[in-house]
Amino acid sequence: MPIDAPRDGQDLVVVANRLPVDVTLDEAGEPSWTRSPGGLVTALAPVMSRTKGAWVGWGGSPGLELEPFDVDGTELVPVMLTDTDVERYYEGFSNDTLWPLYHDVIAPPQFHRQWWDAYQRVNERFAQAAAANAAHGATVWVHDYQLQLVPAFLRALRPDLRIGYFHHIPFPPLEIFAQLPWRKQVVEGLLGADLIGFQRGGDAANFVRIVRRLTDLTTRGQMITVDEGTPSQRHVRAQAFPISIDSHAFDQLARTQAVQERALEIRRELGDPEYLLLGVDRLDYTKGIRHRIKAYGELLEDGRLSATQTTLVQVASPSRENVGAYQQLRDDVELLVGRINGDHGQVGHAPVQYLHQSFPMEEMAALYLAADVMLVTALRDGMNLVAKEYVAARSDERGCLVLSEFTGAADELVGSVLVNPHDISGMKDAITYAVHLDPREARKRMRRLRRRVLTHDVAAWSGQFLSALTAVPVRDGHA
Ligand code: G6P
Repeated sequence: MPIDAPRDGQDLVVVANRLPVDVTLDEAGEPSWTRSPGGLVTALAPVMSRTKGAWVGWGGSPGLELEPFDVDGTELVPVMLTDTDVERYYEGFSNDTLWPLYHDVIAPPQFHRQWWDAYQRVNERFAQAAAANAAHGATVWVHDYQLQLVPAFLRALRPDLRIGYFHHIPFPPLEIFAQLPWRKQVVEGLLGADLIGFQRGGDAANFVRIVRRLTDLTTRGQMITVDEGTPSQRHVRAQAFPISIDSHAFDQLARTQAVQERALEIRRELGDPEYLLLGVDRLDYTKGIRHRIKAYGELLEDGRLSATQTTLVQVASPSRENVGAYQQLRDDVELLVGRINGDHGQVGHAPVQYLHQSFPMEEMAALYLAADVMLVTALRDGMNLVAKEYVAARSDERGCLVLSEFTGAADELVGSVLVNPHDISGMKDAITYAVHLDPREARKRMRRLRRRVLTHDVAAWSGQFLSALTAVPVRDGHA
């Protein structure tokens, strides 16, 4: 049932699983907030500061009930998730059903009806919070796979809104998506939007093909007609908008003296290796961390890389630690690292420096600057912003990016050394090539990469999405 627009509603409402702040509770249970450094936050900060905006999301702590509050002129609207919601909607359906399904079933997706019930319930709650905070005719921008039902729920509540949805992760081909018992409901949920954004053209094409096969709607290129022949007929556009980073801010950060000095210090602390290789990922089975470390271990074994002259720094930030597949991955990675260091280490030198931690941006920038070769070997990744950060940090035009062809970034980052991470021999050759790359060739490649990353930044991304959303005719005869 439609509801009325609130009198003091916002013109732009962002809806994402997480709020742009991290909540911490003190000993008395009192919450305090710190800005979270996530990509989406930096992407939307400039837009939000220009518009009267609200951000609807979860505070990151189960059971935490909070009133909306203001941060730098943006109204933050916390959505409460109970312990059961976190277990079934977040860890369960989002991260143990959809996440593996949408990433080529690298891990087997679990299908549980109770998880689906929770997903629907929580999506409805997010939609209600958005509906209660959006001004008449406002723009609502929904983000990512955790909230695919929000567009349709929201449209039912507030048909006056302009609704955009952006999908940050891959959208799978029909043959995989069709495994989902609730596939039709998910497609219908997404079709509540006026514009559905994807990382790559291939993701958008997968979606349109799925719409054709699972519904009887008319599609024409990227356009899907919904409610055809009725007064509520409208068009939904499915299109690629590759996301990016705040490249100029990153470039500037990496140029600061503090970061430059820290980069030198990191190399010294590692014993001045001849070659420093780097991997930076959330500890996730989609990232190809095991494949990468295996290839590296074999290169040491074969003597193609010297164990005393080479170091691989692997930053693996903790992620989704209550989900079984992530616990298994951690065990596998740590076993592998232990074996390689046991076989090839020496007193005072470990060929793999494994860090199961998160670091501030300054430290990341210093690591990128220190590394001769950056290894991004995901088995499947919507975009991969680490690859773009590495490029943005390298104003010295040195270093080499080894990049998996199964990342969205591979479509854009011409100048990287592309690899198939399943092909361990091929990956070993690519790493060897990157390590010994002629500095002139490296510079040529890095220049090309930097041109792309610095011109196509996150402001361009959000600007393009929002202008395309404004251009979509929301109703026939009402542009
Ligand atoms: C990916 C997803 C995001 C998610 C992030 C961190 O990038 O696309 O939606 O927020 O991973 O995962 P988490 O489960 O900690 O939010």
